[in-house]
Amino acid sequence: MTRLDAPPPIRIGLLGFGVVGGGVVRLLSQKAGAIATEIGRSIVLRRVLVRDPGRSRPFDLPEGDVTTDAGAILDDPEIDVVVELMGGVTPAAEYIRRAIRNRKHVVTANKDVMATQGVDILQLAREHGVDVYYEASVGGGIPLIGVFRQDLVANEVHQVHAIINGTTNYILSRMAGDGVDFGPALAEAQSLGYAESDPTADVEGIDATYKLAILASLAFRTQVSPAAVYREGIARLRAADFRYARELGYVIKLLAIAKRHPGARGAGAPGARSTPLTQGARDGGAPPPTDETAADEIEVRVHPTLVPQDILLAGVNGVFNAVHVRGDLVGDVLFYGRGAGAEPTSSAVVADIVDVAHNINAGVANRIPFHYAGRLPIRPIDRLETRYYVRLWVADRPGVLGQIAQVFGDHQISIASCIQKETDPSAESAELVIITHPAREADMQASLSTLEALGTVRELSTMCRIEAFA
Ligand code: HSE
Repeated sequence: MTRLDAPPPIRIGLLGFGVVGGGVVRLLSQKAGAIATEIGRSIVLRRVLVRDPGRSRPFDLPEGDVTTDAGAILDDPEIDVVVELMGGVTPAAEYIRRAIRNRKHVVTANKDVMATQGVDILQLAREHGVDVYYEASVGGGIPLIGVFRQDLVANEVHQVHAIINGTTNYILSRMAGDGVDFGPALAEAQSLGYAESDPTADVEGIDATYKLAILASLAFRTQVSPAAVYREGIARLRAADFRYARELGYVIKLLAIAKRHPGARGAGAPGARSTPLTQGARDGGAPPPTDETAADEIEVRVHPTLVPQDILLAGVNGVFNAVHVRGDLVGDVLFYGRGAGAEPTSSAVVADIVDVAHNINAGVANRIPFHYAGRLPIRPIDRLETRYYVRLWVADRPGVLGQIAQVFGDHQISIASCIQKETDPSAESAELVIITHPAREADMQASLSTLEALGTVRELSTMCRIEAFA
């Protein structure tokens, strides 16, 4: 929009001045001219909330006040946009709400807040006529939130397969490519600054469940809580698994998977997406259908997964992230890039600030609201049907293989292949790698429990699900 008069600058209050906060301040300063040209007015940093004003920083704040008082930003009527880059739920969620109630637009990179409280916060923003943007909460600089909010809106999204944790993808890439075992690969990721000193959130798949909850909520216009996402981490994998997976034509990735399963009415049938699109966020949406088979269901899970070597996701290595989406109209689309780091994340934050500025210029807010269509039931993991990879050590004597096959057979699981790999003569043990035909998770879990109790099974080493990408 071209204006003849010179509109006043847009004033930013920044909450948090860590790696990403520093990156955003640097970017706003370095590209001030280009940004002002883009939006027709300048952006000024009015105030920054820091925890410790005495801490040394890579560069001085170019402008604006430093404060330790959040109220000096949240309650300042001169501030138009609050940029929240503190991370964590407390106190960030409350600060975001307070900013909204004070009619400030919010840009946040906070996956914890948006995964657990995003639907409520977006509704609160609607009620107060302000915007909440959160592109940087998933996948760093990779455009994802805007893609689901806007670009793929004509589609019914069927599936999302994502590599959304760079630390684990780095570790798995090292294990696959160089035969490094889990412990040394983790230590290396820590020494390079990818993994935290406490790597639990990454290694156990927790970080990925939060990101998947955000993506699945957007993709299916529902509310998925991170706690509802089935989760397994990568710590049980061994270098041998990567070797055997490669021989079988697979790579192992920590995949975040979301799928929509049409109910008896069928996806897209009248009533299948029944509630008016903008209703229901405050009260949790439509009550869960009493007849679950009539409703669409969603599947959300994060776990190490064998994926065919020839699909694009299999080639995503190192700290890179990628998100593969399948929609009814667009077919398959893939988003790839750096999922973390000051510059990629700042790219997403500043793009959100620019978007908000355009809305301020146009005098609108919530131009593209989050359309919450009600809570879709989550399909329990027990009902998953997929192929499985199982590696186990057994007693190396006649009849043991038959015994193992019998256990799977008793649970209606058909074995597609069974290969004896290593042997350990001193322990009279042999290592078996079994691939099954599609089987139900409940039957696989029951089989594993039975196998664990057999005296001839020395160790149940690994069980991985195989994703077909049909
Ligand atoms: N620790 C995350 C990762 C980045 O390794 O991808 C922040 O979400």
